[in-house]
Amino acid sequence: MAVIGYFNGRWIDPAEACVPLDERGHQFGDGVYEVIRAYGGRPFLLDWHVERLFQSMEALRIRPPFDPGACKDLIHALIERSGESEAAIYLQVTRGSAVRNHLFPEPSVEANVSATVRPVKSGATEAKSGRLLLVPDERWLNPWIKSLNLLPNIMAKQTAHDAGADEALLVRDGCMIEAASSNVWFVVNGELVTAPADRYILAGITRRFVLEMARDLGIPVREEKLPRERLSEVDAIFLTGTLTEVYPIATVVEHPDIPCASIPAERVPARSVGPEQVREVWTARDLGLVERLRAAFVERVRAWAGAIA
Ligand code: PDD
Repeated sequence: MAVIGYFNGRWIDPAEACVPLDERGHQFGDGVYEVIRAYGGRPFLLDWHVERLFQSMEALRIRPPFDPGACKDLIHALIERSGESEAAIYLQVTRGSAVRNHLFPEPSVEANVSATVRPVKSGATEAKSGRLLLVPDERWLNPWIKSLNLLPNIMAKQTAHDAGADEALLVRDGCMIEAASSNVWFVVNGELVTAPADRYILAGITRRFVLEMARDLGIPVREEKLPRERLSEVDAIFLTGTLTEVYPIATVVEHPDIPCASIPAERVPARSVGPEQVREVWTARDLGLVERLRAAFVERVRAWAGAIA
């Protein structure tokens, strides 16, 4: 299986050193990215991904190194070059290379474009259900921008992993709004509830697709923030993401030393969190609707991949 890399017009081995040390993505995380899934050799929901990439660049005042058409051509070329039909394409654009200085480079420099393509096992998320750990959302105030700065996401996800969970369920201002690398949905009284796509969450492409699909299937959806206290009313939870697809959750756990209600002012020392220290605070009651959505998702992706093959 081929793993390919790309940097500013060159095909490279992803392990090859080629990014200059004075590079703003490398030094500041000053850049944006997209992860796109190819099914049947074609990039799924490509227009939406490219649209979001351009929104992220605009928000950070990064001068686009291509127009949307050339960006799509590059993504097609990456998939073709890899020869993979089931693949994850990682595309990154940074402000460029310049001697380290917090200010934007003056005169401005060209943005750097890098990418990798890796094979994905088809149906990898099927027949699994996950566990979430409740953690406070320590991200900045603009998680809607798909920036490279993912340290709070990384710390949250690693803590969840250490605690024996698959993902972190992020709580901001008392509400469960997102996961560390996916969007979160709740089923409450037959309705889907997911946080609104305001500045505090990433407006996931899969979230957008599932939102349209649910409306299509006549399933009521409310874009509202769900308070932590209402977890006991929840019948089912699932995650969505480009690689996560539609992923059901079986349990939610919390750790006595990880308060979510508010963020204390004291410094939080690094601590090791083990699975034996967490307690279960929620268990799935009825995954029927989630299974229906997952089946519909798989069917629509298959139909799309088949129709354009
Ligand atoms: N993550 N929320 C966060 C914080 C994410 O990082 C992601 C995606 C999502 C889901 O968005 P989408 O449906 O557009 O993939 C939500 C990507 C895949 C990643 O960082 O690897």
